[in-house]
Amino acid sequence: MNRDQKFFDMYSLVIGILALFALAIYVGVSKLSDLTQGVYTTDTAEYQAAIQERIRPLGQVYLPGEESQADKLTVQEAAQAEPVATTLSGPQVYNQACLMCHGSGIGGAPMLANTESWAPRIAQGKDTLYQHALEGFTGQAGYMPPKGARMDLSDDEVRAAVDYMAEQAGR
Ligand code: HEC
Repeated sequence: MNRDQKFFDMYSLVIGILALFALAIYVGVSKLSDLTQGVYTTDTAEYQAAIQERIRPLGQVYLPGEESQADKLTVQEAAQAEPVATTLSGPQVYNQACLMCHGSGIGGAPMLANTESWAPRIAQGKDTLYQHALEGFTGQAGYMPPKGARMDLSDDEVRAAVDYMAEQAGR
């Protein structure tokens, strides 16, 4: 009987301590949650909006005919400069269109600055040189294509190149 009583006392004590302990945990946790979780009152509109934002799908599918919510693409066109008709200088034309033959003497072309082969040609007069350069010319040395086969060149540009070549030949 005495032993039972002792056991019962002990048992009550342990149960009591455990109950107190549980209560302490409960109170502690609810205090702690008030401290840290207080901002997240789940029924506020802000909270719901925050949740919606977090679980928002990454993309959306729009079927044809549906209005896309995506920002409309704006195409910005760079202002284009008006094409300007530029005139090439004599040396420029020479380098682009005449050098490949007159720079090396290919096919009998009188070489630039070769006074000897240019002298008799220049003696024909500028007009003949211009005409031969513009319209093409087949002489004893070979074939000179019209405008050096650069039909995109203007007559004045070709004449400027002829002037340049005559100049280089010392005339
Ligand atoms: C495909 C080669 C070639 C190109 C490119 C060329 N020439 Fe010639 N050119 C010749 C040849 C070959 C002759 C010599 C023809 C002859 O006297 O038989 C010649 C001769 C000339 C003559 C002398 C014509 C004469 O009456 O004696 C002039 C001027 C001339 N070229 C100007 C030019 C100019 C300007 C260019 C560039 C726009 C040019 N050539 C590009 C091959 C070329």
